[in-house]
Amino acid sequence: MELLFRPRRLRRSETLRRMVQETRLRREDLIYPMFVAPGQGVRQEVPSMPGVFRLSLEKLVEEAKEVAGLGIPGVLLFGLPQKKDETGSEAASPKGAVQQAVRRLKKEVPDLVVITDVCLCGYTSHGHCGLLRPGGEVDNDATLEVLAQVAVSHAQAGADIVAPSDMMDGRVGAIREALDEVGQEMTAILSYAVKYASSFYGPFRDAADSAPQFGDRRAYQMDPANARDAIREAALDVEEGADILMVKPAMPYLDILARLRPEFDLPLAAYQVSGEYAMIKAAAQKGWLDETAVMLESLLSIKRAGADLILTYFAKQAAALLGK
Ligand code: PBG
Repeated sequence: MELLFRPRRLRRSETLRRMVQETRLRREDLIYPMFVAPGQGVRQEVPSMPGVFRLSLEKLVEEAKEVAGLGIPGVLLFGLPQKKDETGSEAASPKGAVQQAVRRLKKEVPDLVVITDVCLCGYTSHGHCGLLRPGGEVDNDATLEVLAQVAVSHAQAGADIVAPSDMMDGRVGAIREALDEVGQEMTAILSYAVKYASSFYGPFRDAADSAPQFGDRRAYQMDPANARDAIREAALDVEEGADILMVKPAMPYLDILARLRPEFDLPLAAYQVSGEYAMIKAAAQKGWLDETAVMLESLLSIKRAGADLILTYFAKQAAALLGK
């Protein structure tokens, strides 16, 4: 048969395939999320996230060294408080678990980029991402002030990048202004610009003990049905001074990544969230999926869709395979 074009011609050998490969996954694309617990000697595995641990300070530093040794450029820190209250007051404490961890990491693993999650849900007794009005609604503007204080406390501890994940309107601008005011104008902001009200966050809420005690987050996080809204959210964050934009979750929202990519010239990150990790782990444990192959395929697909950076609990496992 005379076929003019045979796509298979370029698929015949490993070398040929490598030569024409459009997307390459690198260790430098990965960021590893970590949970900092108060106390000492804590290394507690999250039941729904095998291989992911809540770590106290010295254990965290140990694991961060391993992360850096694998060639992963950065970590994202989530803090767990000693105690929660209505206003999440521990979140901005210079003595909080995250603030202490940042100081230690910048001293002991100085080349590692330290990113901190800025939100209140892990610190409030009600589990919402902001301060509540008497009726239970999250008070947007009052929350902005607290978030700005949290971000400043992280920056003053030495964080390279702060990452607001609360989805209040105007928080990137409020945080930028507060950072500049205290002379932290070089601290960057990675904005969870496009964060959907997703059920894929379930395992994370176990890890951070941050499930809302009433209601849900749909009054501030985005509706999974909406794509145009993503452009608007990202544009607002660019105007307010974001340095990196993020889409979250990743795999179910590849269309959103692909839509944002040509619209914005900032680095674009994607967060492969806890539920995405848990699904792959669980299926692999049952012997239903090849864990390594599926992991690499999922990360490659996220990159192909448009992400420059991928936040993933698979970072260590993937980096170990990717090599130099
Ligand atoms: C805090 C926050 C959440 C995640 C990251 N930051 C949970 C939420 O919004 O409920 C989810 C991360 C994951 O599922 O891996 N607001």
